[in-house]
Amino acid sequence: MSETSCLKIEFFSGEDVPLEMHKVRMVQRLSLPSIDSRLAAVAEAGNNTFLLRNRDVFLDMLTDSGVNAMSENQYAAMMIADDSYAGSETFYRLEATLKEMFGVKYFLPAHQGRACENILAAAFVTPGSTAIMNYHFTTTKAHILRMGGHIYEAFGPEALTSVSDNPFKGDMDLGRLAAKVAEVGPEKVSFVRLEAGTNLIGGQPVSLANMRRVSAFCREKKLLLVFDASLMADNLYFIKTREKDEMGRPLADIVREIGGLMDISYFSARKLGCARGGGLVMSGDALYHKLRPMVPLFEGFLTYGGMSVREMEALNVGLRETLDIHVISQTPIFVAALGRALTEKGVPVITPFGGLGCHIDAGRFVDHLPQDRYPAASLAAAVYLAGGIRGMERGTLSEQRNPDGTEQLAPMELVRLALPKRVFTLSQIKFVADRLAWLHSHRRLIGGLVFEEEPEILRFFFGRLRPDSDWQQKLAAQFRADMPSGF
Ligand code: F0G
Repeated sequence: MSETSCLKIEFFSGEDVPLEMHKVRMVQRLSLPSIDSRLAAVAEAGNNTFLLRNRDVFLDMLTDSGVNAMSENQYAAMMIADDSYAGSETFYRLEATLKEMFGVKYFLPAHQGRACENILAAAFVTPGSTAIMNYHFTTTKAHILRMGGHIYEAFGPEALTSVSDNPFKGDMDLGRLAAKVAEVGPEKVSFVRLEAGTNLIGGQPVSLANMRRVSAFCREKKLLLVFDASLMADNLYFIKTREKDEMGRPLADIVREIGGLMDISYFSARKLGCARGGGLVMSGDALYHKLRPMVPLFEGFLTYGGMSVREMEALNVGLRETLDIHVISQTPIFVAALGRALTEKGVPVITPFGGLGCHIDAGRFVDHLPQDRYPAASLAAAVYLAGGIRGMERGTLSEQRNPDGTEQLAPMELVRLALPKRVFTLSQIKFVADRLAWLHSHRRLIGGLVFEEEPEILRFFFGRLRPDSDWQQKLAAQFRADMPSGF
């Protein structure tokens, strides 16, 4: 049986159910705080979901980073980790897996994804140079700007369209890429970066066909091509299920081809491989020798790079499990189940449903709020009030101000409800859809937020905000009226 033919297990009823291909053998108790406790907690957190304490959260959909459920084989591997500062066997096992998977010569470990971005920016970004990408990620952009570089996003015409049936909204637009290279000159391009499963525009995948075209262009122009593989697992699922020519191919083949198309691939192992840590892989000798000294400088010795050996063993197994279609299908099928439930209830969601999580279109949900009142952040605070559900703002608040102090308004105002791999059940998904439908029916009660404390860099992580009126009290009163138990 091919991987694809065993993908879809049909229900006799015809219902589209995201069937779990695993069983749960360890659990963590949850509690749902009352609406009054939620009101107090959101104020204490400065209306920033990053600052909520976990004890105040019912369903933590902030991120899938470092909170995916691991497999029994991953836990078992952690027990046989070889602890040593240098020369650990654990490192060589992980290195062998990555070399085989991506078909590359070298692996450099790093403590997480942004550490790889720090190394890449330090190595290739010069003041005034431009990094061209399909879309930026917050930490990627911050590292490039820190080194005096610029970013340019050569996304396609539908990338920022919230309702679409384009299966690969993450594809890079070759015309825009070529035009930008011609404009700045190839010597002023620090690198071209393709991000799998474009995080900030709704977990939208990049097709393998597009990767091939971008790679051919970069080889012709002698531009360095960097691949952010952090969200590659979801992207692989979409290649297998949406890209006709690739459906019959083994996942291992596809990953090796990707590895060969890119000059450098890097990843956050908090996502790829369901562990913690990260690293860079490449085949070029000169590239390897240029980047290698930075690992002991910033991360740790070359055979651990800031990761614990236990995490490296878990990652080694997690990476191999990424080549199993049943493993990588779990997030996208749950995202689709949540997306369908929300759409049925009239809640505006980014389509097609992507990887990572469900992305609520705050621009439409709270279309009465101006962007400088942070509609996505306001909605994220309201979602917490509605159900103790912690999502993440992905809009103007996640942007950095322009050098002149004006707001950099985000092209999309999103609230991401992440679905860490294999963590939530279908009834929890139904609860989320129910609370969002309630909130949507009272959306006019939702007001804006203003900064109380605004950090200069990555302000969304620690910034504190307050409501611009008593809208949260009004929303809570409505909740008590509709849900008298207060939960
Ligand atoms: N690239 C992408 C596409 C990411 O999604 C992330 C992290 C990183 C790089 C940085 O990796 O966190 O290990 O340093 N995304 C997390 C998220 C934070 O919640 O989406 P990291």
